[in-house]
Amino acid sequence: TATSDTKIITEVRERLGSDLVIMGHHYQNDRVIMHTDLRGDSLELARQVPALRAKYIVFCGVSFMAETAAMLAGEEQIVVQPAPDAGCVMSEMAPAHILDCAMRQLTKNGARVIPLAYVNTSAAIKGIVGQYGGSVCTSANAEKMMTWAMKQGDTVLFLPDENLGENTANNLGIPEDKRMVLDIRGGGNNIDVAEATSKKLLLWPGLCAVHQRFRPEHVDEVRRRDPDALVIVHPECPAKVVKKADAAGSTSKIIKFVEDAPNDSTIYIGTEINLVERLAKKYHQVKRVRPLHPSTCSNMAKTTEHLLATTLQQLDSAEPVRVPEDIAYHARIALDRMLDVCS
Ligand code: 13P
Ligand code: SF4
Repeated sequence: TATSDTKIITEVRERLGSDLVIMGHHYQNDRVIMHTDLRGDSLELARQVPALRAKYIVFCGVSFMAETAAMLAGEEQIVVQPAPDAGCVMSEMAPAHILDCAMRQLTKNGARVIPLAYVNTSAAIKGIVGQYGGSVCTSANAEKMMTWAMKQGDTVLFLPDENLGENTANNLGIPEDKRMVLDIRGGGNNIDVAEATSKKLLLWPGLCAVHQRFRPEHVDEVRRRDPDALVIVHPECPAKVVKKADAAGSTSKIIKFVEDAPNDSTIYIGTEINLVERLAKKYHQVKRVRPLHPSTCSNMAKTTEHLLATTLQQLDSAEPVRVPEDIAYHARIALDRMLDVCS
């Protein structure tokens, strides 16, 4: 039962004290979030890992986040993901062998193409990015990192989220005729290299199924019903949705937007439902927080309070998250570039 799970978690936390840190992404459900020591968006979570001293870091979120934590943690620390099968559909849209082939093609004539990978990618992707002089970014620093990447080369390959790439390019004023969606059919072998390297920005054709569900009509409907309502969406939403919203930003920016909105306002949010419901509950006496459309991340939902309790009970025998050192070495270079630029 929920009560016994809570009891188990509390007991293990008391027993391990500072040897245990529980981290959780904002899309985790409330019964998991209530047990976390550290919560955050992808950037905030990654940033906090190098300073942690706990022996065990239990990461409630999806695999690319747990892998990132494992690569940024010390050698003697043990990172455990309660739901190791919680992947991310977006990160799976960028298989490492295709990026490897695409980068070989794009650079074969000496063109300076810099890959910029959203943190929502596998460690193997981050490793390739590190080897080609590129970096990682998150939704909180995409503009800053795209500007950085543009200075490192003539063409930036942004992957895997086409929407975040497009929204960031719109904010930076990169002309549309200087952008192109990369053709990755044929495993990266079909790229028109001359055309691709004449562009400033290449976008990978990937998306987040959770944020792709938001439509411009959802914003139109809100405007029609409640012209005074505020609308904020995550930049993984299609550009047509972002353009109609009042603001767009990472999960932490969304939280701040709600916090700063005047009392008695109505705020519609276009992101994963757990975060929207948490904000609605927190502010229900002073503001109305509503989902722009209900959308759930089934992978984030795989971590439950019960799973957290059983993981903590068997911490010594849990399989730690490990990234092979040859991949981690190069991936850390890409991650450190982001952490350095955004320190
Ligand atoms: P942020 O928390 O960095 O905004 O990321 C959102 C997301 O989709 C994570 O999977
Ligand atoms: Fe991946 Fe989208 Fe879920 Fe984030 S919300 S973990 S990008 S599928």
